[in-house]
Amino acid sequence: MKGIILSGGSGTRLSPLTKVTSKQLLPLYNKPMIFYPLETLLKAGIKEILIIVAPERAGDYLRLLGSGREFGAKFTYEIQDKPEGLAQAFIIAQNFIDEDNVCMILGDNIFEEDFSDSIKNFKSGGKVFAVKVPDPERSGVVVFDENMKATQIVEKPKTFISDYAIPGLYIYDNRVVEVAKQVKPSARGELEITDLHNWYLQKGELEVEILKGEWIDAGTFESLFKATELARKKALQK
Ligand code: DAU
Repeated sequence: MKGIILSGGSGTRLSPLTKVTSKQLLPLYNKPMIFYPLETLLKAGIKEILIIVAPERAGDYLRLLGSGREFGAKFTYEIQDKPEGLAQAFIIAQNFIDEDNVCMILGDNIFEEDFSDSIKNFKSGGKVFAVKVPDPERSGVVVFDENMKATQIVEKPKTFISDYAIPGLYIYDNRVVEVAKQVKPSARGELEITDLHNWYLQKGELEVEILKGEWIDAGTFESLFKATELARKKALQK
């Protein structure tokens, strides 16, 4: 299993904090934000990690994270010229993924969960997670039927359909690269990750597991503050 940390984008929602640095390099308690998704992948046993960054910040990431040796891993870097959507990461990562399966985590997503079992037990298809949230309109959302079988996945639904958000950690088999190449830009001009989930869902090959631990997408001032609190809790537990 290969790992990707998607850490591009412009972070405009956090301006002026992101005027001279990338959102995923902002401090969360005692570490830069990207350390948390990185630790999530390392803890799950993933050792080959591609870090996708915006061109203007590439040097900062290289200086901060280096070769990966310090972390017992191997890091590779790719530039995403423009933030044209989460699914584009798999096209950029084609050579890196090669013949393997892949787990992608977003550089601003902080998890409490240990994903080791999900990664070790993954065979094929797609696997995503679901978390009950008070603000599902901010996320990709999954609808379950009465047997908790996923029936529908929608990116940021305007009207309420479910309060289960899909957090930013996705496990896919190797087919995801070719599927991503078929995705057409959405109305907001992005290659949507939900189109990938839906491809696997329609084939009956998408597993959706309810997440037990806490999850935070640190993309707003309020959630950035909550992420700092979670980071502090993690640091003090150690
Ligand atoms: O956090 C989970 C959510 O992430 C999912 O529930 C949604 O389905 C998914 O679309 C995404 O929604 P966001 O509104 O959080 O996406 P955002 O545009 O904020 O991008 C998420 C992170 O990925 C952010 O740290 C920037 C980075 N990014 C984003 C895009 C669109 C890139 O590196 N490249 C990109 O092209």
